[in-house]
Amino acid sequence: MFSRLIRPSAVCGFARNFSTSNGLNRKVAVLGASGGIGQPMSLLLKQSPLISHLALYDIVNTPGVAADLSHIESPAKVTSHTGPEELGDGLKGCEIVVIPAGVPRKPGMTRDDLFNTNASIVQTLAEASATHCPNALICIIANPVNSTVPITAEVFKKAGVYDPKKIFGVTTLDIVRANTFIAEAKGLDVAQTSCPVVGGHSGITIVPLISQCTPKVSFEADALAKLTTRIQNAGTEVVEAKAGAGSATLSMAYAGARFTFSLLEALNGKQGVIECAFVESDITEAKYFSTPILFGTNGLEKNLGLGSVSDFESKLIEEALPELKKNIKKGEDFVHAH
Ligand code: 2OP
Repeated sequence: MFSRLIRPSAVCGFARNFSTSNGLNRKVAVLGASGGIGQPMSLLLKQSPLISHLALYDIVNTPGVAADLSHIESPAKVTSHTGPEELGDGLKGCEIVVIPAGVPRKPGMTRDDLFNTNASIVQTLAEASATHCPNALICIIANPVNSTVPITAEVFKKAGVYDPKKIFGVTTLDIVRANTFIAEAKGLDVAQTSCPVVGGHSGITIVPLISQCTPKVSFEADALAKLTTRIQNAGTEVVEAKAGAGSATLSMAYAGARFTFSLLEALNGKQGVIECAFVESDITEAKYFSTPILFGTNGLEKNLGLGSVSDFESKLIEEALPELKKNIKKGEDFVHAH
């Protein structure tokens, strides 16, 4: 069963159940904290008792966001860091760095169309992380994730501090969407519905493993194909609904916070914490691939692999691999060329 760590006691905070920080020093940085994802995600993180220090970084508007969040009655200290000269201070001592920075899609764009802008943003932020908190767990939200994770890995390799157990592409929103759509279709309790999604985080590289859903569900072939396509294109559904105002921010903030809380729980010694994540992998011929990952006190404890997949899902994985490999190479080549 996958972790479902955004619980009322951990996030809503209204119960003011703030006694579980264990006195541990858990500094988390959000890079891109003033943005569409960064602000609501920082709000969710600020409400968590698992965080002792929330460092907010952006190139503009950080003091306002930080001042605003700092009034919330939870224990996390909030600090503001604006511009490259303040980035190092924000990162020093961090155990987790979450990176939603970058520009979002507009209608008609693929995530890959963001590459030219976001690749250098992620490269710069990864370089600073490799310098100031080389042992932190790095969570990449900035798109195109299929390329920005390899970019981050190459930057850490260049700096001589790469640990494949510590760099994650956050694909959690695909799982969140799969759970929601399956529960809606089958009239299930969504809180008890859990469907792994593997591969990458764009279009056909997103592969829901509906045959492995808990509880077991079955669909006619047509309905299964439609549901799969909806999960693959769910980001685009939001981009179109926002009609030029960007892509998913609120659900992505939820997903990023859920992923961060899972890592924190595992860092705190909780056993059996599992999330899908896009990591360096030897599960398929793609060098990076998302599968369910068991988290531990050092980040990735064990890659749980694909499990048993249906013929339909196996075909989807085959279809995903060429695109995924292309996206990965593009990220790696970018770092080598810059
Ligand atoms: C999405 O899936 C923003 O990539 C994000 O909507």
